[in-house]
Amino acid sequence: MEKRELLYEGKAKRVFKTDEPGMIIQDFKDSATAFDGKKKGEIGGKGSVNANMTVIIFKYLEERGIPTHLVEQLSDHEIATYQLDMLKLEVIVRNIAAGSLAKRVGYPEGQELREPLVEYFLKDDSLGDPMLAPNHIWELGLVTPEQLDEITAVSLKVNELLIPFFEGAGLKLVDFKLEFGLKDGRILLADELSPDNCRLWDTETGEIMDKDRFRRDLGKLEETYAEVLRRVQERMR
Ligand code: TMP
Ligand code: ASP
Repeated sequence: MEKRELLYEGKAKRVFKTDEPGMIIQDFKDSATAFDGKKKGEIGGKGSVNANMTVIIFKYLEERGIPTHLVEQLSDHEIATYQLDMLKLEVIVRNIAAGSLAKRVGYPEGQELREPLVEYFLKDDSLGDPMLAPNHIWELGLVTPEQLDEITAVSLKVNELLIPFFEGAGLKLVDFKLEFGLKDGRILLADELSPDNCRLWDTETGEIMDKDRFRRDLGKLEETYAEVLRRVQERMR
């Protein structure tokens, strides 16, 4: 597969055309942003950690019945994927209260939820990614009710698979964000699964092992990203 011209540059990835119809290359960057791009920085090695971790987890999910956009890993920081019609929807699954949920409903961070909670947000930085109820989703024509049911079921299934996956790496899966896209009308899991879009706490010490270290200026960024990948790789042996 040959890399062709840049199609799109996002906050965390560059997307390139390829010589293969329907396939693109996602090149993971070391740059980090938070708060809808208002906070900017670099985390050395992040692109490589996120690409490698996404490949391991997407393969793990594929083998367990979750269809994803992954085609193959091309280098330490590049993966080939199908080109999808991306849904302007961010799906968040939560097991433990943290971040914006803790703030919104007044729960202390760390409070276990009765059951996994699914939330939907509009993917639009200029609007600050507002939260959506299902009625907003129909109104905006983002997906049909049937498609939202499928997306919700897949998101919960991903959570069910990833809780024990991360437990085996000494990490508690607090919450995570998923994005989906359509290929020939079929819903595929897209984007990434990495410390950028998951909250992961050390099972023993409770230490924060994800992008909250960047959002909250907690330091040890490079080391933490590298350690999470090391544990995930170790877990697969
Ligand atoms: P939140 O508590 O800030 O709403 O974040 C919930 C989860 O979603 C957390 O694991 C971080 C992830 N996330 C993203 O991947 N992208 C985003 O833009 C935001 C706000 C959160
Ligand atoms: N990546 C998002 C942004 O820059 C926010 C986040 O992950 O906190 O807006």
